[in-house]
Amino acid sequence: MPVMRKNVLITGASSGLGAGMARVLAAKGHHLALTARRVDRLEALRDELLAAHRGIEVVVHALDVDDHDQVFAVFKQAITDLGGLDRVIVNAGLGKGGRIGTGKFAANRQTAQTNFVAALAQCEAAMEHFYERRAGHLVVISSVSAMRGMPSSMTTYAATKAGVAMLAEGIRSDLIGRKGLDIKVTTLYPGYIASEMNDSVEQETRLMVDTETGCRAMVAKIEAEVADAAVPSWPWAPLGQVIKYAPLGIVRRMV
Ligand SMILES: NC(=O)c1ccc[n+]([C@@H]2O[C@H](COP(=O)([O-])OP(=O)(O)OC[C@H]3O[C@@H](n4cnc5c(N)ncnc54)[C@H](OP(=O)(O)O)[C@@H]3O)[C@@H](O)[C@H]2O)c1
Repeated sequence: MPVMRKNVLITGASSGLGAGMARVLAAKGHHLALTARRVDRLEALRDELLAAHRGIEVVVHALDVDDHDQVFAVFKQAITDLGGLDRVIVNAGLGKGGRIGTGKFAANRQTAQTNFVAALAQCEAAMEHFYERRAGHLVVISSVSAMRGMPSSMTTYAATKAGVAMLAEGIRSDLIGRKGLDIKVTTLYPGYIASEMNDSVEQETRLMVDTETGCRAMVAKIEAEVADAAVPSWPWAPLGQVIKYAPLGIVRRMV
């Protein structure tokens, strides 16, 4: 049985999946460090969680993950606040973008920077701490779209999500054969879960689950400390495999 990883830091906790996972984890008695740029949202979430659950600690910090020095500083502050971190969920992300070669470089670059380079900074900061403690659980939020190259506005987004999944796998590879380390790495590949990011995407609604259902499925896989999982498992575990192996011309019509 995996140990209880009590103290959890979540980036991008001001809305959607980050806030949803915070609600599920708080109900299970975890202490939380919540970060994002919109601190008013974090403060409201902290007040809600502290009122609903006795005995938990919730600290909040303003953090723009694109400011890499701030990532390291805020993680250190959260470590001090909670007396160490047992789990870090690299969740902050965005889905801006446009077809490559159509003048959308600024949006594509922003997505690449936040979803990949900033995720790298978060993984560095988390793993430094976990190596020091010889324990910890790194969770990276990828996407089912990472299974293949995706067309049009999703091209850069899907590439960043494939990138973070490979980053996590490489970190996991570094841990193989290292004795005396209780460090695990989990990659989650969410399908469509209601959040601000996909508020306006109508064709997704048939397969979309509500935020709470999606976040419960995510937390169940996180607590099982699996190496990777599509979430919710149905329909995304089988659909993910179809996306991975179907001809590209079919994949582009599926998304
Ligand atoms: N919902 C889905 O169906 C789905 C599917 C696959 C993967 N995902 C992934 O799940 C993660 C969460 O997305 P979501 O669906 O919950 O979307 P969301 O509701 O838009 O939430 C995105 C979160 O990321 C934060 N964020 C964005 N840019 C940031 C920055 N530069 N610095 C710090 N925080 C930043 C936002 O906080 P602030 O704006 O307050 O900073 C917000 O809390 C993302 O990585 C996304 O790619 C979602």
